[in-house]
Amino acid sequence: MTDQDRRLAAERAAGGSVVDVHLTVNGAVHDLTVEARRTLAEVIREDCGLTGTHVGCEHGVCGACTVLVDGQPSRSCLMLAVQGDGTEIVTIEGLAGADGTMHPVQQAMMEAHGFQCAFCAPGFLMTTLALLAENPEPTNAEIREELSGNLCRCTGYESIVAGVERAVVLMKESGR
Ligand code: FES
Ligand code: FES
Repeated sequence: MTDQDRRLAAERAAGGSVVDVHLTVNGAVHDLTVEARRTLAEVIREDCGLTGTHVGCEHGVCGACTVLVDGQPSRSCLMLAVQGDGTEIVTIEGLAGADGTMHPVQQAMMEAHGFQCAFCAPGFLMTTLALLAENPEPTNAEIREELSGNLCRCTGYESIVAGVERAVVLMKESGR
């Protein structure tokens, strides 16, 4: 019996529900059986093994856990994994090319020295990706407004905004 089998058996024994979920994460299919109470963030990190999605506050405030769910930026700590059933999810690991080439948004943040400890970086990058998909040339005010739901304890935000402005240029140059 695997650790997961033991965990699911304990959940059932305690009266909890166990559900099957079908997630597509960064193009890879994950057919999983999980406790109904577990969040999408937990399942992405622990069951899919994608620990690039960070968990900070665990109650929807900091934005560190942001992933794209069917293209929409979503706080994976506030979603149950079962709510993601059948969706296409993109996490920070889905940005770079197969050969490791950075996505223009990653390149831009590096060039702008956007982050310090970078705990917040996955959330900011996924939020930026969603912003530029909808609005490829946001104004400085629009960038600040869009990023206002993500918290950073290190930078004071100026370098992150500069990174998004650089991303606008690199995305255009790359034809994305
Ligand atoms: Fe999800 Fe903070 S960990 S919003
Ligand atoms: Fe440290 Fe943002 S760079 S929390």
